[in-house]
Amino acid sequence: MDGFDIDGALLNAVEWARVVGQIHMGGFRKGNLGIDTKSSVYDVVTRVDKESEAYLLKSISATYPDHSILGEETGSHMKESDFCWVVDPLDGTNNYSQGLPVFCVSIGLEYKGEGVLGVVYAPYLNELYTAVKGQGAFYNGEPIHVSDKQDLAHSILASGFPYDKGTHPVNNVANTARILPNLRGFRRMGAAAYDLCGVAAGWLDGYWELCLQPWDACAGSVIVREAGGVVKPFRFDRGISIIAGNETIVNLISEYVE
Ligand code: IPD
Ligand code: CA
Ligand code: CA
Repeated sequence: MDGFDIDGALLNAVEWARVVGQIHMGGFRKGNLGIDTKSSVYDVVTRVDKESEAYLLKSISATYPDHSILGEETGSHMKESDFCWVVDPLDGTNNYSQGLPVFCVSIGLEYKGEGVLGVVYAPYLNELYTAVKGQGAFYNGEPIHVSDKQDLAHSILASGFPYDKGTHPVNNVANTARILPNLRGFRRMGAAAYDLCGVAAGWLDGYWELCLQPWDACAGSVIVREAGGVVKPFRFDRGISIIAGNETIVNLISEYVE
């Protein structure tokens, strides 16, 4: 990354995330969201997802015209560059469109395919999570660290279920049934990027999910790693499948999920 101003990139990404947060809040619990479905009836998109992505594309390409961009709503905008911004304009759209408060914007930056910067902002909750590779992870400017739990009985874990859960046999239901009786608690927060940040901050002790996309996982994975955690892939045939937490909890979750 010779010569690249990563601290400046972080400041830019935080500014973009805050503007997108305003776009989210402008439509939250107001109706008139232009709700549509994508891959299945469970996979929802609103005009706010699209407006948020349009703003991110415009801002990133104006500031970094040579960089590639991968966004959930418009796909890949590839350039001959080692840098790729990986953005989810609104993670947790089902929550958002229902009026539930757990939703966020997720902005990641990859250099030569490796995540080096992550910004996740949940505007209703006013929670900003940031990390740059090698510089630690932060929640609203304060350093964060993954939890130090050493067993599942004391742990609260989160997970999620793919949009094709009704038609595909590998849908995380059996995993959840196996592990859940061993946990202090289980949560389905509804936003993968927020789940990862919850792990980074220690609000959640661990998280696993399969069938994610790059924009769900890119920023949050940087934030977990910079918070001292582990993000471990666990299968390779259903999109991105990951387990996150401290090393012990990740190993314990690995015994139950496939
Ligand atoms: C979804 C959320 C959800 C996860 C899904 C994702 P979206 O993202 O992160 O928690 O279970 O796999 O697709 O569609 O709200 O951006
Ligand atoms: Ca998402
Ligand atoms: Ca999304």
